[in-house]
Amino acid sequence: MTNPSKRLLLFTAKLGYQTRSFEDAAHKLGVRLVYVTDRCHQLEDPWGDRAIAVHFETPEVAAYTVMEALRGQDVSGILALGDRPAAAAAYAARGLGIRYNHPAAVEACRSKLRMKEVFRDAGLCVPWFRNLPVDPAPEPVLLGIFYPCVLKPLSLSASQGVVRANDREEFLAAAARVRRLLQSPEILATREANLDQMLVEGYIPGREVAIEGLLTDGALSILAIFDKPDPLEGPYFEETIYVTPSRLPESVQHAIEKCARDATRALGLSHGPIHAEFRVNGDGVWPLEVATRPIGGLCARALRFSFDGASEPIGLEELLARHAHANELPPAS
Ligand SMILES: Nc1ncnc2c1ncn2[C@@H]1O[C@H](COP(=O)(O)OP(=O)(O)OP(=O)(O)O)[C@@H](O)[C@H]1O
Ligand SMILES: [Mg+2]
Repeated sequence: MTNPSKRLLLFTAKLGYQTRSFEDAAHKLGVRLVYVTDRCHQLEDPWGDRAIAVHFETPEVAAYTVMEALRGQDVSGILALGDRPAAAAAYAARGLGIRYNHPAAVEACRSKLRMKEVFRDAGLCVPWFRNLPVDPAPEPVLLGIFYPCVLKPLSLSASQGVVRANDREEFLAAAARVRRLLQSPEILATREANLDQMLVEGYIPGREVAIEGLLTDGALSILAIFDKPDPLEGPYFEETIYVTPSRLPESVQHAIEKCARDATRALGLSHGPIHAEFRVNGDGVWPLEVATRPIGGLCARALRFSFDGASEPIGLEELLARHAHANELPPAS
């Protein structure tokens, strides 16, 4: 067995099938996968894999820990699974001189408010929006709220606390729900920023799509467009079925790709995987959000890529490992 001298860093809060896929990919590439994780600071090397233990809530400190741990070692690339790990990864990349997104761009993606401001200032389609304190309970009549609208926390994910309101009663109930969620011990324990605020924005009707993309020095390759065939009209927006390849007309797919390019450029993202969501209607393509992480779960497993030099199609994790390690990209389809 070879003893790889190059290291590929994987910033992640979770271990599971996807991290195992990255391990397999690293093995094939002859690089050593080094985990950077916040799951093991009380245990010494819990998986026997010499993971670097950090706290993702302080990304600069996490980056410093990583740089100290890797002093003198050869790091070829950086990957992150999740929004919080991506922030630490961005700072570490700066320190190690590795290509990755700038920390400011990653931080913008972690705030739904900041992201909306960036999209608005870049002239992209955005609904009206404003941030409100969760306490005291906001009175919509005094705030000039229009209906239908959507209330949401500024920096949670998996549609937690995302609620549609069609009138004042629903708004008040939704605001109370978001407040309860943000003040719950589990959410407070994350020490996420802006837990005292919520975002309210106009409801965007239309179909929803997601894209999986890969940035190389600012140029975005679209790896897949996913249709979300469920209606997703609220009041809650649970995870849904994803269908790829998209069945939307080619002109609409091109408009989505253009919007994805405009949105990533506006955010200043430059390198690595992105997962982005959009709504599409007669007025155009509306970016909902861009996350600096790959898709996970079954959707990731459904993706296969043909690659020069690979005897059979490879999975998303191997594609991302190759890209992070050696800047390799799949041939454009
Ligand atoms: N302004 C809006 N108009 C219509 N639907 C919306 C709006 N904002 C959010 N949604 C719906 O709620 C879902 C979740 O919202 P959002 O992406 O902002 O939060 P999230 O917690 O990051 O969700 P996830 O992690 O599932 O992507 C969206 O995918 C969309 O279906
Ligand atoms: Mg989302």
